[in-house]
Amino acid sequence: MIMLRSRAEVEKIEAACMIVADTLGFLETKIKAGMATAELDSLAEGYIKERGAVSAFKGYKGYPANICTSINETVVHGIPGKQILKEGDIIAVDIGVKFNGYFGDAAMTFPVGGISEEAKKLLAVTEESLYRGIENARPDKRLCDISSAVQECAEKSGFSVVREFVGHGIGTKMHEDPQIPNFGVAGTGPRLKAGMVLAIEPMVNAGTYRVEILEDGWTAVTKDRKLSAHFEHTVYISDSGPEILTKWRKKKQ
Ligand code: MF3
Ligand code: CO
Repeated sequence: MIMLRSRAEVEKIEAACMIVADTLGFLETKIKAGMATAELDSLAEGYIKERGAVSAFKGYKGYPANICTSINETVVHGIPGKQILKEGDIIAVDIGVKFNGYFGDAAMTFPVGGISEEAKKLLAVTEESLYRGIENARPDKRLCDISSAVQECAEKSGFSVVREFVGHGIGTKMHEDPQIPNFGVAGTGPRLKAGMVLAIEPMVNAGTYRVEILEDGWTAVTKDRKLSAHFEHTVYISDSGPEILTKWRKKKQ
C-alpha cells in the first residue's frame, strides 16, 4: 500500500530531509584525498546528533555505520572504515535520518580532487537521470514513467542501470511501498498520486549493470569493477508536481 501524506506529515518528512541535505553539504566541504571514510562517518554522526536526529542506517538489518560511503566500483552500501580517499576517486555518500518520527534519505556522488573524463561524465549522467526521474513524479503519471526516464537517460550515454537495488516510498519508515526500479516500461505500474513521498535513487554503472556483494554482506560492487555512481532525493508529489525535500545547497565550484 502506498501511503498518501498530509501537508503536516510532509512538513515533518521535510524537516528530516533538510538534516540529510545539510549533512551532505557539510561532508562535501570535508571530503579530501588522504582522509579515511571512517572520519566522514564520525563527522556525520556528530552533525546529525547536533541537529537532534539519528541515523536511519545504523543498526538497520545490522548495518554497522551511520552513513554509506561507496568508492569507485562500489555501487552502494560501502561501510565507512579505514579506506583512504585518493585523488581521482569518486565517493557516493548516502545518508538517511530519523527525526521526530519521520525519515529522510538522499545520496550524492562527489569527486575527490581531479577525476577522469569518464568519471565526470558518469557523475553528470547519473545526476541527470535522477532529475529525469523526478520530473515524472507527478499525479497523471505512472510509477514506471520514473523508472523508464532514468533508464533512458543513463543508457543513451552508454551506461547501465543497476537492477538489484531500487528506490522506495519513505515516511514513517525508511522503506515503504512502492519499490521504484531504475528501469522499466513507461506507462506501466501504479498511478502516482498527490501525497506520495518517494526516494528516487538511480545507481548507474560505467560497464555492466551486474553487481556482487562482498564478504562483509553489505558492500555491493560492480561485477566488472568499473565505476558506479549514485544520486538520491526524497521527493513529494504535490498536485502541481514534484517537490524535492532533500534539496542540496551545493557549494559553488
Ligand atoms: N539509501 C539506501 C536505501 O534506501 C541506504 C540504505 S543503507 C542501510 O536503501 F544500511 F540502511 F541499509
Ligand atoms: Co534510499
